[in-house]
Amino acid sequence: METVIDEVTAGIYRLSTHIEEADFSFNQYLIDAEQPLLFHCGMRGVFPLISAAVTKVMPLSRLRWISFGHWEADESGAMNDWLTAAPQAQVAVGTVGCMLSVNDLALRPPKPLEDGAVLDLGGKRVRYVATPHVPHCWDAGVIFEETTRTLCCGDLFTRVGKSPALSTEDPIGAAMAAEDVFGATALTPNTAPTIRRLAQLKPQLLALMHGPVYHGDCERALHDLADCYAERLQQVNS
Ligand SMILES: [Fe+2]
Ligand SMILES: [Fe+2]
Repeated sequence: METVIDEVTAGIYRLSTHIEEADFSFNQYLIDAEQPLLFHCGMRGVFPLISAAVTKVMPLSRLRWISFGHWEADESGAMNDWLTAAPQAQVAVGTVGCMLSVNDLALRPPKPLEDGAVLDLGGKRVRYVATPHVPHCWDAGVIFEETTRTLCCGDLFTRVGKSPALSTEDPIGAAMAAEDVFGATALTPNTAPTIRRLAQLKPQLLALMHGPVYHGDCERALHDLADCYAERLQQVNS
């Protein structure tokens, strides 16, 4: 098992670990800036691998912010390992995530982010967007790096298999095939509207947690994804 590092746009690194037995990949995104931010902690079991990969880009002592999309082992599992290894780092997640889990479980107090709050990293700007229950978990949220228009969209568009770092392949087919396998998305009346709200950000890159970084028509891909979930909800209700 290895963690592959790619700079997917200026100063943003995708760290990707493929688990052969599951044919599934787990990514973290490292945003380099005056105050570097890591999005997704990874599971505790792979912390030695992931943290060693980060040190190829920067010393862990520079890491200032740790963030993740919701409370789950692949998103937040190694949170305290990072806080220990990076003494200057602080967790920055949504207010709901802080209230539900992080205030109690993190070694140091987190910085709660309101929906729409911006963290100025110095050279990069990260906007937190709350997406409750989308794709799953009450505390769900994503981050949007404004200078590169990169939407770190977490579990949205999750796909199985190995992916290249960057792709222009339409992400919908693979995402809906994975949805058929996992059923990971909470199908509610808010699912499609929440995804359409992300399309309004007009991202240029969609940085998937389980898949490639998509650099095609991101706005259209988000609307297509919303359409798929709206259709599925309608089928359930009919
Ligand atoms: Fe998840
Ligand atoms: Fe995930």
